[in-house]
Amino acid sequence: MKINDHLFTYEMPTRIVYGVGAVAKIGEEVAAMGLNSVLLITDRGVQKAGILEPILKSLDDVGSQVFVYDQVVADSGIEIVEQATKMAQENKCELIVGIGGGSSMDTAKAVALMTNNQGQILDYAGLDQFSSDPLPIIAIPTTAGTGSEVTVWAVISDKVNQIKTGIGSMKLMPRVAICDPELTLSLPPQVTAATGMDALTHAIESYVNTATQAISEAMAEKSIKLIADNLRLAVANGQNIKARDGMLMGSLTAALAFNETRLGIAHAWSSPLGAFYPVSHGVANAILLPNVMEFNLIGNPQKFVKIAELMGEKTQGLTLMEAARKSVEAVRNLMTDIGLPLHFKEVVDIDVEMIPKIAEEVLKSGNNLVNPHRPDLTDLIEICRKSL
Ligand SMILES: [Fe+2]
Repeated sequence: MKINDHLFTYEMPTRIVYGVGAVAKIGEEVAAMGLNSVLLITDRGVQKAGILEPILKSLDDVGSQVFVYDQVVADSGIEIVEQATKMAQENKCELIVGIGGGSSMDTAKAVALMTNNQGQILDYAGLDQFSSDPLPIIAIPTTAGTGSEVTVWAVISDKVNQIKTGIGSMKLMPRVAICDPELTLSLPPQVTAATGMDALTHAIESYVNTATQAISEAMAEKSIKLIADNLRLAVANGQNIKARDGMLMGSLTAALAFNETRLGIAHAWSSPLGAFYPVSHGVANAILLPNVMEFNLIGNPQKFVKIAELMGEKTQGLTLMEAARKSVEAVRNLMTDIGLPLHFKEVVDIDVEMIPKIAEEVLKSGNNLVNPHRPDLTDLIEICRKSL
């Protein structure tokens, strides 16, 4: 029997309502919380896809007073948080509901915080930097990737300083996560692929890092298998509800793993890269992931063998390192099959001269501290160069 060699905690205060049709339960959930005035935070795409209709109906059925802010954009920043916070304060909202991908759910967390705190959102960068408790939050994901519905983190873009900042606290964990695979049916193949690879990066980075423990490991293993079995199917046919269900559960379990462990070098790089260049979080992580895995193989080879097996690779008869390397091959094959690029040059021009400068920012990330192979500045630069 394997014995964990370190003491750990695992805390999950979010109530998860999961399954096809779950979204119609929002009224009951809000009524059970005893709250009446609700601000929905979302984007125009969600609005146009008709996803708000069952939510509005369910809230209407229980007599909630509902306000809608639908101006969230990808990687939303200070101004959007300020506009939506003003709306929450003016209407005396008691509950913030984020509906969408990471940007909408993270904006909802930021608005919940700012409704009860002074200044601007970036003043609260880091962990537990605010004094008054945020408003309660409900998160409803419409992509299968970010996992923000069950994490402590809100990532907000600082467009002036070209950085993405994490604001984290257990108090930003949504009170309820409503996860309904039907809401992801309208995602186009490219978004399905990119967000799905973000979820796989969460699972793999959590699984191999030095902070992992039995509960996160179990969640990560479940996630890696679900994503390996379902991502191709979801990209091939967006209407495949079984594959969408597998991907939403894959994304959820990955987040349940990494919320306690943090991540690794791929996420240390993807945040500043996404702030400097127009590349989505999922695509940036996907391109970095195999190169980060290659760097990490020697830090935890047995875990990489297990990843290879979970992704359907045969490892019998191979040496430990040969079997571990199969995990990298499995990730590259998956990316090729779902139409994602293996190099940044296929999607964005990254200035080689900028890499050492950005790498200095990357080196400060707490995600490096738990990475199984501790990187120095030269290692970080090399991993990015390989990904170009
Ligand atoms: Fe991510």
